[in-house]
Amino acid sequence: MNQWPGLLIQYEAFLPVTDKTPELTLYEGNTPLIPFARLSEKLGVELYGKFEGLNPTGSFKDRGMVVAVAKAIENGSKSVICASTGNTSASAAAYAAKAGIRAIIVIPSGKIALGKLAQAVMYGAEIVEIEGNFDQALKIVRKVSETSPVTLVNSVNPYRLEGQKTAAFEICEQLGSAPDVLAIPVGNAGNISAYWKGFKEFHEKFRTGLPEMHGFEAEGAAAIVQNRVIENPETVATAIRIGNPASWKLAVTARDESNGDIDSVSDPEILEAFQLLARNEGIFAEPGSCASIAGVIKQVKTGQIKKGSKVVAVLTGNGLKDPQTAMSQVNVRPAVLPANEKAVMDYLSNVIHV
Ligand code: F0G
Repeated sequence: MNQWPGLLIQYEAFLPVTDKTPELTLYEGNTPLIPFARLSEKLGVELYGKFEGLNPTGSFKDRGMVVAVAKAIENGSKSVICASTGNTSASAAAYAAKAGIRAIIVIPSGKIALGKLAQAVMYGAEIVEIEGNFDQALKIVRKVSETSPVTLVNSVNPYRLEGQKTAAFEICEQLGSAPDVLAIPVGNAGNISAYWKGFKEFHEKFRTGLPEMHGFEAEGAAAIVQNRVIENPETVATAIRIGNPASWKLAVTARDESNGDIDSVSDPEILEAFQLLARNEGIFAEPGSCASIAGVIKQVKTGQIKKGSKVVAVLTGNGLKDPQTAMSQVNVRPAVLPANEKAVMDYLSNVIHV
């Protein structure tokens, strides 16, 4: 077959792949870097979106999960476990299904976007809902993995970050060099840390340059920005509803080494970016993803991102995962009309402007 081979083969030289690593792939990676002409013009920067929602399970998690699950199998594991706000669990369930092992997922009850839950159900994961939040779920699965023969595949598993760093490689290849600014949502803070590792490794090998890393937390879950654990994180962007990020220190290092910034964006700013992106660029990214776009808009205004900069915003997940937020937060409703031509024509004559 002549097609993209998936990450374990494509970036073998940069990954902890050995003779014993199984050949696992759902053909993850190789996502497009999309120039955003309209938003670039509005904002006065050269803006691109790395659309990670086009990975096989609809989020960037697949990059890390393929490595984590392959290594778990290599090390003799028969099951994987994770806590999740939804995307990690969908990805873990898919790769476990492909590999023929078991996935156990622990999720906060009622705070998972519908599409993500449907994925876990369909891929056949063992699903546990706790009456608590992601931070509590992570604490529980860490304990379980220490005392039982299951492999933890949250981003505290170092193989996850190894896989996720490949997105930085692709950006350098697609742009020809690193951008001036990499804007990225921050939840558990693994991905910002992985990108920074990736940019550094590629720069060391190919002199592709280093971006400033600009991470964006949701205002109601902005632990790193406020420099304190948030006991009850809240945000419409459930993917990043996390109050005690596991990779906190690594994210702060990425920020400081890159001369970057970790900032927060409010729910209204996230929802505005969510709509702006869909309507101006035809890209439907899930709300958590849009923290990056909201952050770019905010920091162009404040001058923290300079006019004319080359900016890549990471769009971490697909909008189709969370139809509920699109329908409930965005104030547009389809017109309901009788099924006759005249009624539709009359309605449209008011809508179609020539
Ligand atoms: N964007 C999306 C769509 C996510 O699902 C996540 C994290 C992030 C951004 C933040 O990435 O945690 O590496 O800083 N989702 C995890 C999950 C926590 O369980 O799916 P991070």
